[in-house]
Amino acid sequence: MQEILKNIYERRAVRKYKDMPVPNDLIDILLDAGRMAPSAMNHQPWKFYVLTNAKKIHTFSKEIAHLAIKEIKQYGIKELAKMTLSHFHLSTMIDFLQNEDHIFYGAPVVIFITTPKADEWGALDVGMCAQNIMLAAKAMGLDTCPVGFGRYVTDTPDYFYLNIPDTEQVHLAVIAGYGNEQPEPHERMENNAVYL
Ligand SMILES: Cc1cc2nc3c(=O)[nH]c(=O)nc-3n(C[C@H](O)[C@H](O)[C@H](O)COP(=O)(O)O)c2cc1C
Repeated sequence: MQEILKNIYERRAVRKYKDMPVPNDLIDILLDAGRMAPSAMNHQPWKFYVLTNAKKIHTFSKEIAHLAIKEIKQYGIKELAKMTLSHFHLSTMIDFLQNEDHIFYGAPVVIFITTPKADEWGALDVGMCAQNIMLAAKAMGLDTCPVGFGRYVTDTPDYFYLNIPDTEQVHLAVIAGYGNEQPEPHERMENNAVYL
């Protein structure tokens, strides 16, 4: 199979990481791959805030988990599960109560991706950018997970540490590192194509 297809099929959201740093030159390659993503009107609206300080990553995990738990309490877990209709969300909620680092999973690298708040296509562009990063990581023997909860970083007490200007919006975090698990692929739904 061609390498790109192999990476697409073998990429998994990995939620366990070895205690091994990722060399800076590999992080640079990931960001370059992100920069090669298509963007609406070629705005290239993304900015990357790369966090490798383990203590800070852990602090943000705890602060974000705290915010998420507050939300669970507000809506009630059943309501939230109904709203999201997602197995992942439900299992992650349960993880909150059991796990140590249930947001960034002890990954050595967290990349927060922002765009200007005013950018109409920012969220889509970031999605494309993040996928490039994750496939490039796979090609280099790294694993990743997109972390939507990363968006909550904006509301954490330590947000100032990231120095993200008020004009920018955090859309997503991508965590990266040397994975310590090999999750089975989720079955993909195939009844979603209409041939005309
Ligand atoms: C926009 C987006 C946000 C996500 N947010 C989270 C998250 O906050 N925490 C998490 O553990 N996984 C998160 N995921 C990972 C998904 O749960 C995962 O991609 C999905 O279950 C499919 O599994 P796979 O990536 O291994 O194929 C997110 C994925 C996407 C695309």
